[in-house]
Amino acid sequence: LEDGTDHSNRPLIHLTPDKGWMNDPNGLWYDAKDELWHAYYQYYPEVAHWGRPLAWGHSVSSDLTIWNDTGVAIRPHRNDSGAYSGSMVIDYNNTSGFFNGSVDPRQRVIAMWTFDSPGSETQHISYSVDGGYTFIDYEQNPVLDINESNFRDPKVTWHEETSKWIVTIAHSQKFEILIYSSPDMKDWTLESSFSHSGFLAFQYECPGLVKVPVVKASNNDYVPANLTYPNSTTYNSSYFNTTFSQGDELEEAWVMFLSVNPGGPLGGSVNEYFIGDFNGTHFTPFTPQTRFVDFGKDFYAFQTFFNTPNGKDVIGLAWASNWQYCEAVPTRSWRSSMSIARNFTIQEYAPNPESVELNLNSMPVYDRESLIANQSRITTHNRTLEKNSAIHLNLSNNGTGVFDFNLTWSLNSSVYTNSDVAEFSLYLIGSDNSEEYLRIGYEGNSGAFFLDRGHSDVDFVSRNPFFTDKLSTYLEPYETLENGLNSYKVYGIVDRNLIELFFNDGSEAMTNLFFFSDGNYINEVDIRTSIDHCYNIEELSIQQLGI
Ligand code: FRU
Repeated sequence: LEDGTDHSNRPLIHLTPDKGWMNDPNGLWYDAKDELWHAYYQYYPEVAHWGRPLAWGHSVSSDLTIWNDTGVAIRPHRNDSGAYSGSMVIDYNNTSGFFNGSVDPRQRVIAMWTFDSPGSETQHISYSVDGGYTFIDYEQNPVLDINESNFRDPKVTWHEETSKWIVTIAHSQKFEILIYSSPDMKDWTLESSFSHSGFLAFQYECPGLVKVPVVKASNNDYVPANLTYPNSTTYNSSYFNTTFSQGDELEEAWVMFLSVNPGGPLGGSVNEYFIGDFNGTHFTPFTPQTRFVDFGKDFYAFQTFFNTPNGKDVIGLAWASNWQYCEAVPTRSWRSSMSIARNFTIQEYAPNPESVELNLNSMPVYDRESLIANQSRITTHNRTLEKNSAIHLNLSNNGTGVFDFNLTWSLNSSVYTNSDVAEFSLYLIGSDNSEEYLRIGYEGNSGAFFLDRGHSDVDFVSRNPFFTDKLSTYLEPYETLENGLNSYKVYGIVDRNLIELFFNDGSEAMTNLFFFSDGNYINEVDIRTSIDHCYNIEELSIQQLGI
């Protein structure tokens, strides 16, 4: 292998291709008959670089944890072209006429994707009669052609109230999300355009519209919350003429996802969202804010699964990379992984003491139980940190490079001044070479959680000008403890070259790649602080995971 980090850094519990190049997730759907999750993706199998002909690769998983690569599912009919991003639906009622009784209604899948050829982007559909492994192109493709070269990434959903298919497609460089409807996936009518919203960057990509349950904060049982709308002055804006009246109960809302690249605020790619209402033709956001799905550098082209086991959960995943450096990351035979799948809800949260906002909340979904057998776990609690005595924790020596952790801390803000850097850090240190470590922590004056992925001997990390090493995100307190101090929470998953952080039960997330030398898996954690008696570790547990 040309590069030492190739195989030892390949994630175990994230979707990666066996070989070749992968970008956006496509066509995500859940097969209720075989109880199988299907994920497709932008795929160039020949070498680990983006290239044409670009196909859809395919992987399946029974638990969103272990993925099996099943090879190419959809390919363009020309070598100078690409089967660009798109989505899949299950046509239970055979609205398309593609299916007969031999295909179980739960497996009647139709893909809608962009055929990109030199100078042109049009929308095609293909269907499968073998449960999503092979596809037949519709004879009368394209089903949508508006004579444009930047018109792509159809994400289809079913709109119950009007009994129609709805698709969102990026008219990328016009900053428009075009919304079309169809009775049969073949004939499409333009209904509206949601345009110039959010942070524009260079262009719009991969939009998506989905209905998301509204739940009470810290209640993950999907019990509809008793939120009334609008219930704080923040929502009283008549700017967008929302259809809700005072006192209406809000049980679900529509979320429009959008990816923009290049030119995101952290550099490169970024995923945005808007919370609002959709009436079957028009999407109306509740507020004019630009919001971000993830505050890390490696979360892009997010999409949701069509169908989930209980039919109402919203589960999705993203490509865990960034167009700024995705082709340069130090893996050779395969490139890129997906994020862990996440479950989405809308919850209220208080970004500051005077506002309550609706917020997209996400927590990871994977089969953690199956990964903890015979694996070691370390815990510590109620430890007040002191400057001169670091806490050392050792994971077992036969580490797999995969673990998760739960950390809750409290902050005593009376013991430092404005000019102090009042931080505590977890140093996540490599087993073979302790010069390689990830540093994560929190600083009181800035109110932010930080991550530093720059301590590595891997050339790419120090040389690549876009592989930003220090990242941070503002974090609101989780709760106030009996002693009057504010506490904060983070749940983290580390899988070889990927760290995903979920703050305060999912009110914020941060996904970032990192690279250490071959086989240098994290197996030691040091906790240090810059200020005496400022931080108390209420709880830290670290669980090694293995397959
Ligand atoms: C987003 C994207 C899509 C396009 C695909 C091509 O990452 O640029 O807009 O369909 O990748 O691979």
